[in-house]
Amino acid sequence: MNKPLAKIIKQRFSCRVYLDKPIAENHQRMLMDYLESNRTGPLGTQARFTLVAATEYDRNSLKGLGTYGFIKNATGFIVGAVEQGSKNLEDYGYLLERAVLFATDIGLGTCWLGGSFTKSNFAKKISVTSTEIIPAVTAVGYIAIEYLEMHSKKKISVSMPTCSK
Ligand SMILES: Cc1cc2nc3c(=O)[nH]c(=O)nc-3n(C[C@H](O)[C@H](O)[C@H](O)COP(=O)(O)O)c2cc1C
Repeated sequence: MNKPLAKIIKQRFSCRVYLDKPIAENHQRMLMDYLESNRTGPLGTQARFTLVAATEYDRNSLKGLGTYGFIKNATGFIVGAVEQGSKNLEDYGYLLERAVLFATDIGLGTCWLGGSFTKSNFAKKISVTSTEIIPAVTAVGYIAIEYLEMHSKKKISVSMPTCSK
């Protein structure tokens, strides 16, 4: 990652509304390369991740995946699978958050989904095996301008409270 981790963590927020614009090929490649290297959790569990992304030619490919209306216009999802086992969820959470922070660092928005996604549809995208589970996925894409503005206003109002005399 290019920026200091603490800065990336501060910069990141859950993004629920995305620009209707596919993730650029160079960003998709960077993210895929990162996901390929992000496979072993600190407690030793192996997981695997993939990026499922719309393209310029097939913008609608992700529309039917199923996120129960919690996410608008996502043009990508990071989907992962992990074997059942001791501390597998801790490792999976660590690895997916690392991927989330990498995505933030290259300018993409993200939102974790641990429950509001149709598991069977996402399972097909990563060809999940009978011994694996998909504990969570994350939406990924360019943050919608109005959502970015709304979020930065929220941040300013928190950091600059109005003074009372
Ligand atoms: C482990 C985990 C699972 C989550 N699962 C869902 C989910 O199923 N559906 C959803 O809409 N948001 C989900 N979220 C997103 C949270 O609701 C989100 O982090 C919360 O709105 C706080 O927003 P903030 O990150 O901007 O502070 C999940 C977040 C985490 C960390």
